[in-house]
Amino acid sequence: MEQTLSIIKPDAVKKGVIGKIIDRFESNGLRVAALKKLQLSTKDAKEFYAIHKDRPFFGELVEFMTSGPVVVIVLEGENAVAKNRELMGATDPKEAAKGTIRADFAESIDANAVHGSDSLENANNEIKFFFSKEEIL
Ligand code: CMP
Repeated sequence: MEQTLSIIKPDAVKKGVIGKIIDRFESNGLRVAALKKLQLSTKDAKEFYAIHKDRPFFGELVEFMTSGPVVVIVLEGENAVAKNRELMGATDPKEAAKGTIRADFAESIDANAVHGSDSLENANNEIKFFFSKEEIL
């Protein structure tokens, strides 16, 4: 069993598709082990995405991720990291395979509906960023 972190981004929260996205996870063998809705501060977003701090899109990424509430979720299941990435589709929705979350709900590479951890190591760190052990059930 693995755990991974998913973030439903401000564009998808504004569109009212939280439930539809969670249904993709639950219908495909990923269990919700923890979940909360929150507003990221600029400091939070910069820290969470620190790995991208030297990329040209960093400023826009932080601005977008703080533009409205997000939903953060710990997903649990067999091969959860890879499974979640498969369900999300490519980062750029124009390149995302048919039937993936980003193909169906995302608008652009910035407003791309969801974030998902890209490795087990990052998943562990990202989960710790948002949740205490007691909150993961
Ligand atoms: P996410 O999985 O949240 O990780 C970093 C985010 O940066 C990514 O999704 C995109 O929304 C955003 N981003 C914007 N431009 C780019 C780019 N050129 N390459 C990768 N990610 C980008």
